[in-house]
Amino acid sequence: MDTKPVGTIIGTKGRPNTPSEFNFWIPQSERSVAIGTIVKVNDGMSEAYGIVEDMASYTEIDDALMHQLSRGGDPETTSPNKEQTTIVCRARTLKQDMDRPFREGLVYYPTLGELNGLFNLEGCRIPFGVFENTDGLSVPVMVNESYITGFEGAHVNISGMSGLGTKTSAFLFLLSSIFAHSRGSVACVLFNIKSDDLLYLDETNPGMDAVDRDIYKICKIRPAGFKARIFAPTDILERGNSLREDIEVFRWGYAEIARYIPSILKAGDPDQKEKLDTAYYDLARMSSEKGLTSFFNILEFMRDELLLDGRGWTDLIHGTYKATWGKLYNQMKGFDSKYFGLLTKYDDEVVELPYDELEDRSVWVVDIQKLGFYPRKLVFEKVISELVSRLEAKTLGVDKLIIFMDELNKYAPPSHSTDIASLKSRLIDISARGRSVGLSLFGAEQFKSKVDANILGNISTDIYGKTKEAELMDPLYNKFSKELKEKMRRFKKDDKLLDHELFDAPVFVKMPRPPCMLGSDRMRIAREVVV
Ligand SMILES: Nc1ncnc2c1ncn2[C@@H]1O[C@H](COP(=O)(O)OP(=O)(O)OP(=O)(O)O)[C@@H](O)[C@H]1O
Ligand SMILES: [Mg+2]
Repeated sequence: MDTKPVGTIIGTKGRPNTPSEFNFWIPQSERSVAIGTIVKVNDGMSEAYGIVEDMASYTEIDDALMHQLSRGGDPETTSPNKEQTTIVCRARTLKQDMDRPFREGLVYYPTLGELNGLFNLEGCRIPFGVFENTDGLSVPVMVNESYITGFEGAHVNISGMSGLGTKTSAFLFLLSSIFAHSRGSVACVLFNIKSDDLLYLDETNPGMDAVDRDIYKICKIRPAGFKARIFAPTDILERGNSLREDIEVFRWGYAEIARYIPSILKAGDPDQKEKLDTAYYDLARMSSEKGLTSFFNILEFMRDELLLDGRGWTDLIHGTYKATWGKLYNQMKGFDSKYFGLLTKYDDEVVELPYDELEDRSVWVVDIQKLGFYPRKLVFEKVISELVSRLEAKTLGVDKLIIFMDELNKYAPPSHSTDIASLKSRLIDISARGRSVGLSLFGAEQFKSKVDANILGNISTDIYGKTKEAELMDPLYNKFSKELKEKMRRFKKDDKLLDHELFDAPVFVKMPRPPCMLGSDRMRIAREVVV
């Protein structure tokens, strides 16, 4: 071995080595090893790699008073018998060829080839960031595509503080990496729920610096805007209800949402809800028998039945109590205003999303930021269901589909809420079984602890940006050492912790600015130009 060691293995009574971790001290002159450094151990027989997760400095002295007195109370005075100090590091094993602890061994920085070997495991070819070791060497960190877009796993989660956690940026960088390196055909559908956040993904980000470009280069990605189509429901003037003007519109009629109506009907209690749903299913059957395809025709039919003379509220209309029929009529009539711009009464005003035109390496943004909670929920449910059924039937035009859900905790919280029950179970289903049809869920949220455990249990790759201390206190983070959590709290925007199913330990990676324009950046640039 021609490089100089940076440390020596030591197992003490208080800090023994185990097969999953080892301790080593570093010499006084060593100044680069830090939390997150990857080191290699060699004891002459076997080798292992580890990531430094804890560091502590020790002095031989037990008593702080002695330390002060020996310097005459002056911090700048050096004691004639200067005490010995040492720094001991604890590393979590990343890769090893034995299931035994080290007794002894020398610790080195790995070479570039060795680092590449660590992060370029067989079958892993999608770069999810760049690892920068503290000796200055950088390598792309590759993950296995089948754990990202199926069949082994298909839920990637990105969490971190608003803005500083750079979750959306991380997702867009990862998407550009998947588009650059995936072997199959793959597309992405995302929902814009914040201002103009995702409305300009087709424009290249002009704000990248040399460091960003370097990361793209190392990851072999050409940073550029995506091939994108933006869709939004209509506004009062029949234009797209969006902050961007040149977009495509969609608007649904009865036929398009017939199967989702039970999930948007509301009732005071489960008993009433069941009655309302049953009444709706009967109505749907009758509508189909009578050839009624629009809300206008169905509402007309319902109204005529209600207005027939001689019926009391307890009388039946086609097997349904008149009171329930009336409730159903009122709710369906109210869709017009509750789902304004998204639903239409008339067949000739329907514009469906062109699902069959979804192309390889393209992104669809469905802009719902101007919609209220219930219309948003309907869009999520309907668009996701349409895509899933086409993926299952293999009629989608791509083999793999990525769905990005921002603020996942809002739509899949741990608590039960009847309002979002159907959407949440759909999301759980995607995270658990989407992989078998090539559907992958990328979720982002500020607080991972506020996401349902069924979804968390299916995460195959976790990405953490800068995280608040209060969040880090959740038991979810108990698997990370105190120092690792401290580092996550201090993260800069380009810092992420990557925990991939195939890695034995999480690693720190650098992620660049997004390849495309975010709404907030576009606004800032426009303001700068004006000033
Ligand atoms: N590597 C980076 N270096 C410096 N700035 C970055 C980096 N990545 C992203 N940014 C910038 O940080 C800002 C916030 O990023 P982003 O919108 O991705 O955060 P977010 O976590 O999604 O925020 P929110 O929770 O509000 O959705 C943007 O201006 C973005 O360009
Ligand atoms: Mg965001």
